Amino acid sequence: MTMKAIMIDQPGDEDCMQLSDATSPELGPGMVRIRNFASGINRADLLQRQGFYPPPAGASPILGLECAGEIAELASGVTNFTIGDRVMALLSGGGYAENVVVDAGSVIPLPDALSFEEGAGLTETLLTVFLNVFQLGELPEGGSVLVHGGGSGIGTTTIELVKRAGGRVIATAGSAEKCKRCLELGADAVANYREDDWVETVRAATDGRGVDVILDSIGGSYLEQNLSALAIDGSLVLIGLMGGAKAEISLGALLMRRLKVMGSTLRTRSNEQKAAIVRAFLEQFGEDLAAGEIRPTLHEVFALEDAPDAHRMMKASTHFGKLVLRVR
Ligand SMILES: NC(=O)c1ccc[n+]([C@@H]2O[C@H](COP(=O)([O-])OP(=O)(O)OC[C@H]3O[C@@H](n4cnc5c(N)ncnc54)[C@H](OP(=O)(O)O)[C@@H]3O)[C@@H](O)[C@H]2O)c1
Repeated sequence: MTMKAIMIDQPGDEDCMQLSDATSPELGPGMVRIRNFASGINRADLLQRQGFYPPPAGASPILGLECAGEIAELASGVTNFTIGDRVMALLSGGGYAENVVVDAGSVIPLPDALSFEEGAGLTETLLTVFLNVFQLGELPEGGSVLVHGGGSGIGTTTIELVKRAGGRVIATAGSAEKCKRCLELGADAVANYREDDWVETVRAATDGRGVDVILDSIGGSYLEQNLSALAIDGSLVLIGLMGGAKAEISLGALLMRRLKVMGSTLRTRSNEQKAAIVRAFLEQFGEDLAAGEIRPTLHEVFALEDAPDAHRMMKASTHFGKLVLRVR
């Protein structure tokens, strides 16, 4: 069976992606097939397209870490979904295509209140923020979070989830416009990282205490400042390296202020681990999600064949929130 998909002959710039015919993926044990309507774009897709972020073993080589569509086929023994169910799913690859197969444990019912395009832009960021801020970062009740790139898919979702859980959020962003939009979305304080001293912003917003958790996708260039923005017993969870992979720090701060620094990726985890994250997420936020109260901040929806334009927009970082591809 063939399908339309965005294919890459040779890794490279945006125009290496082309809409072509591809072979539909095979349904393996424990999986569902999704008739895909829309796929979210993530920063990692830009790296993978250039050949810098190979898919984990066994994953589709096609780009795309999340999608939303209808269940089209179930492996034997999969009973928690029915053909025709509207769903959204976390993928380790394969989203930029008309047909997607994925372990049933990575699939979430799509709330009636959400369109496929909205649902397509939710799963990856919701589960990343839940895993890293709530589970690994152990955000205490009423605790505070600093998220870098408040206008990113990850940043907008962090503001949404942490505020919903009763916490406080401080965000950094690179323009006055993005800072304003973070505040409108619910952030308690913002810093324009190009102009402000964001460690001072954190101190001012936390009565000098620092934040409980930092969700950081910048890495090396921010490490020292991040440590000084943490409260005693605080956690820095590193999920990206946009500011470099190396840094020198004084370990004294870690000892004296009992800080934790950890790295985390969602994509490389086993199906069992992903299913456990999905279950824990639904336990805490499932009712809000089903009621349509958790929604993505969608910046723009592109046609599948316009994936190169969507990647150019993400590279230029002119978006606020999520970019999505309409597959059908
Ligand atoms: N480890 C994991 O499991 C995991 C999962 C999902 C995502 N991630 C990572 O999370 C990050 C965000 O992903 P995304 O898809 O949401 O990306 P995105 O929408 O493209 O956002 C990237 C953001 O980074 C911001 N940024 C760049 N330099 C910055 C700096 N020096 N200080 C503060 N912000 C800065 C940009 O903000 P301005 O435009 O305001 O400059 C932009 O909003 C990526 O690094 C991605 O790889 C990791």
